[in-house]
Amino acid sequence: MAQVFDRTSNALARASLVLTGLIVIVLGVTLDQLQRSPWVTRQGQRADQPIPFSHKHHVEGLGLQCQYCHTSVEVSSYAGIPPTKTCINCHAQIWTNAALLQPVRDSWATGASIQWIKVHDLPDYVYFNHEIHVNKGIGCASCHGRVDQMPLMYMENTLQMEWCLNCHRNPAENLRPTSEIYNMAWAAPSTSKPVWCAPTGKGDSGTGPTAQSVACTSKDPSGQAGPEVAMLQAQSGMKMPQAASAQTVSDSPPMTPMMPASYQKFTSQNDLGRYLTSQYHIRPPNELTSCETCHR
Ligand code: HEC
Ligand code: HEC
Ligand code: HEC
Ligand code: HEC
Ligand code: HEC
Repeated sequence: MAQVFDRTSNALARASLVLTGLIVIVLGVTLDQLQRSPWVTRQGQRADQPIPFSHKHHVEGLGLQCQYCHTSVEVSSYAGIPPTKTCINCHAQIWTNAALLQPVRDSWATGASIQWIKVHDLPDYVYFNHEIHVNKGIGCASCHGRVDQMPLMYMENTLQMEWCLNCHRNPAENLRPTSEIYNMAWAAPSTSKPVWCAPTGKGDSGTGPTAQSVACTSKDPSGQAGPEVAMLQAQSGMKMPQAASAQTVSDSPPMTPMMPASYQKFTSQNDLGRYLTSQYHIRPPNELTSCETCHR
């Protein structure tokens, strides 16, 4: 049989096979990367809103609480976007002539709501609920980032399945006292900034505003300059003139802590997380990561 292909084309065929394989792999990796890229997830992008509403101005600047505008976040699956009336409460008097606010005035005059573009938008086949998250001690900032520092709203996290699962596998890392869910600057407890918590006995009725089963404080419930503080200062070699003189003057026995027995002190997120997991009755990871939890 005549040789149609010479030896070199054999090598060529092999090479092209390898090349095809490589291309398939590279394509796969690229598509995977692309799927996670901000270009697809819209993470970090600012939408072209009808009005350049600034959370930084209204939250950090004016000190407005999230609930003032997102009224249903504790009691429903939706946080809700405020109606024009909420803006008019102030803007009937403030910045009344600003061109930026023309769409607000138009909306108020015509009754047609402002067409805000959704920044966060899960696919319809995913079940999500704000109420349970905020009532179980997940702060707005854990999912939405430092909203108080955003001149224009953007998505801090991807909202992809992997992101949800990451937390559902170990929620303890992100649990905080429910009294702190709106606190944009909440930081995990540490040795220098401990947190004290106690059960309130009120139980979690499941109806807002936020589970009340635990009360926490960042102030030592046994009194400001409790024994811990004194001990810390002694350890670090710090001198507190008042405390020192008080000790030498009076020969009374050392102050006994007045802390209610039920208060526990936490100096790490690990310990606080474990405590809140049990107090808030957080389900185990295998239940929280089961498909039916989010796809029903
Ligand atoms: C004065 C009213 C007001 C206050 C206070 C306010 N927001 Fe908003 N928020 C809005 C408006 C209006 C929008 C829609 C326009 C936009 O996306 O910027 C919005 C949008 C959002 C969105 C994105 C919604 C989407 O489209 O996906 C998040 C998240 C959000 N707010 C979180 C917060 C948090 C957290 C706080 C408190 C720290 C807060 N907001 C305080 C008015 C407010
Ligand atoms: C509690 C009162 C209050 C409410 C409610 C309020 N605003 Fe404002 N807004 C202000 C004040 C005060 C300023 C001026 C801030 C400045 O210049 O420091 C302002 C400024 C603005 C500006 C000018 C740009 C900027 O951020 O400085 C826009 C746009 C605006 N608001 C939109 C809205 C919209 C939309 C709503 C409703 C979702 C709203 N505001 C609700 C008080 C309010
Ligand atoms: C566990 C994560 C998580 C927490 C905690 C959380 N959010 Fe959201 N938020 C989301 C997701 C996911 C969406 C998109 C929901 C959708 O598309 O159905 C969203 C959407 C929103 C929206 C758009 C309107 C809506 O209701 O869908 C607003 C406003 C909002 N969040 C405000 C808040 C505020 C205020 C807090 C704190 C009190 C908060 N969120 C806490 C994850 C979270
Ligand atoms: C930062 C942590 C965190 C993130 C991120 C998070 N969750 Fe959760 N989620 C929780 C906690 C805590 C609970 C409450 C668990 C319990 O009560 O047992 C919960 C509960 C739920 C529930 C159960 C609701 C019910 O009524 O049974 C659903 C559904 C859910 N999350 C969906 C989501 C989805 C979808 C996302 C991503 C878009 C998400 N979560 C992201 C922490 C988180
Ligand atoms: C904590 C909530 C949560 C749980 C639990 C969960 N998913 Fe998802 N899933 C999501 C979210 C959110 C999306 C949307 C992702 C996106 O928009 O990119 C999603 C998307 C999907 C998709 C669409 C394809 C994709 O990846 O975008 C499939 C298929 C899927 N999930 C299957 C499952 C299966 C199977 C399980 C059980 C092993 C499961 N999910 C458990 C939240 C969850």
